[in-house]
Amino acid sequence: MSSHDLPRPDYAARRRRLMERLPDGVAIVPTATEKSRNADVHYPFRPDSDFWYLTGFAEPEALLVLVPGHPDGEEWLFCRPRDPEREIWDGRRAGLEGARELCGIQQTRSIVELDSLLPELLQNRELLCAPLGRSADFDARLMLWRNQARSRSRAGIRYPQELVDLGFLLHEMRVIKDPVELEHLRAAVGISAAGHRHGMRVCRPGMTEYQLQAEIEFVFQRLGARSVAYPSIVGGGPNACILHYTENRDALADGDLVLVDAGAEYGNYAGDITRSYPVNGVFSPAQREVYALVLASQKAAIAALAPGRSVADYHEAAVAVLVDGLRDLKILSESREAILEQGLYRSFYMHRTGHWLGLDVHDAGSYRQRDGNWRMLEPGMVVTVEPGLYFSPENPACPERYRGIGIRIEDDCLITAEGVEVLSAAAPKEIDEIEALMALGG
Ligand code: GLY
Ligand code: MN
Ligand code: MN
Repeated sequence: MSSHDLPRPDYAARRRRLMERLPDGVAIVPTATEKSRNADVHYPFRPDSDFWYLTGFAEPEALLVLVPGHPDGEEWLFCRPRDPEREIWDGRRAGLEGARELCGIQQTRSIVELDSLLPELLQNRELLCAPLGRSADFDARLMLWRNQARSRSRAGIRYPQELVDLGFLLHEMRVIKDPVELEHLRAAVGISAAGHRHGMRVCRPGMTEYQLQAEIEFVFQRLGARSVAYPSIVGGGPNACILHYTENRDALADGDLVLVDAGAEYGNYAGDITRSYPVNGVFSPAQREVYALVLASQKAAIAALAPGRSVADYHEAAVAVLVDGLRDLKILSESREAILEQGLYRSFYMHRTGHWLGLDVHDAGSYRQRDGNWRMLEPGMVVTVEPGLYFSPENPACPERYRGIGIRIEDDCLITAEGVEVLSAAAPKEIDEIEALMALGG
């Protein structure tokens, strides 16, 4: 499978929608910059998500300018020209003609012309929309272009007076996924689930965390996901209690659980799935108690997902179940009200229950309405649901019986008109399903 098998998004329609939101403005959308890793080595390049969303153009050193109503063209793409010499070393380039065809953008220009052409494109525009505050270099360049446009103001030429963050206009589009985006997300999440299933089957005591990681990521790549969506977290035993543990260096011990938070990236869309399971294939009684509680909390949270419910509801639903369970297991003794009011559960559950998912694993879009209230869920939104409990040995409040147990269960959920669809359902999460799959072996 490759992303060519999926329908192509209508990038031009997205650009038109953005332009409708800035009739007398101009939008400048740069792609990501290549990052040096060491000496002559760069990190693998990935386009900026906003830029990709509007162009589908994968090369570095590119920038989109949208100028609604401009007589010479509303859409301008600056990119690298063809260069046979460089292409022998660094790979193929679309070039100006290739980019024009690929993106359906009429005005393509060499990136070398950017500084000379951009001030002209800003002339007689009221509003300048661009990513603000993300890169000091880009902010400085933006001001330079605007100041150059201003320097012509004595000739009666107007220049943008108003600056608006691109995210403010664009991220409200990205938060509702269109049908083609959903196909990409389904592919990313489906591949992620296949990797998790494989991980469960091959996991053995004595294996290292990175070996389990390699098995899972091998499946991602084999199925067409050329990258992970974020560094995989594979934490055995107490390492599961370090929320962003990515060292993945230790051996997996018999009797411990392992927490695997791994997601494939497909067509630049992210899967984000966490499963926690016993390294030896069978949950101990204490592990079972905590696992059953986190699973009940996760199911309660999923049940709270529906159009018209707020993004806070499902977090509160998860917390309510966890708090009752922590009391039942005698881990907390205070009243329900006191635990909630004083946030006593945060010693074992310190993160929120989910986030938007899309091109970015923590995807774009606000969680609050303008009036400050939590926003309502709508069909087409995709969220993760990922409650957990972490009994770190470093935490003095950690009860002996549960020492070193860290469990998170994370699914990717699409809000539909009827309620919710769990996109990651192919990754088992019931105790008996997990044990049965692990018993099959690799
Ligand atoms: N994998 C990052 C997260 O779950 O938010
Ligand atoms: Mn997540
Ligand atoms: Mn995750």
